Amino acid sequence: MFIGLSLAFTAQSQDAASDDIKSRIQPLGKVHIAGAKAETASTGPRSGTQVYNKACVACHSVGVLGAPKPNDAAAWAPRISQGFDTMWQNAIKGYNAMPPKGTCGDCTDDEIKAAIEHMIEGI
Ligand code: HEC
Repeated sequence: MFIGLSLAFTAQSQDAASDDIKSRIQPLGKVHIAGAKAETASTGPRSGTQVYNKACVACHSVGVLGAPKPNDAAAWAPRISQGFDTMWQNAIKGYNAMPPKGTCGDCTDDEIKAAIEHMIEGI
């Protein structure tokens, strides 16, 4: 009887030891997964449509705070006339109520450019 109990106890402490090992291994596994995700995120630029739908649509679709609406020629004309690059830089750096990169912190400058082109492609 006593031997049986002590065997059970030994088995339990082995379980505890292997749980401890598992918990020490786990963070390594998590780091590996995080690294894999980062690689996935950087596979090629997103299209202008994708960036627009993710980051710009909330303000530009309805003209929040005077944001020029897509393909609204009258709203875009004075902006386009200052030169595309100026407009592009304003979108990257922020301009009045227009936040830097339209809040798309992980967008590249070229992805911002593609989103602007998407908004004015019908003009
Ligand atoms: C929080 C709302 C908001 C979001 C989100 C937003 N914009 Fe804007 N955007 C504005 C407003 C407001 C203006 C007008 C600013 C002004 O003329 O005073 C503007 C203006 C612009 C202009 C014209 C700049 C110029 O030189 O006249 C461009 C280009 C632009 N946005 C691009 C983008 C792109 C690309 C995105 C998404 C990646 C985006 N915006 C997301 C609010 C927003």
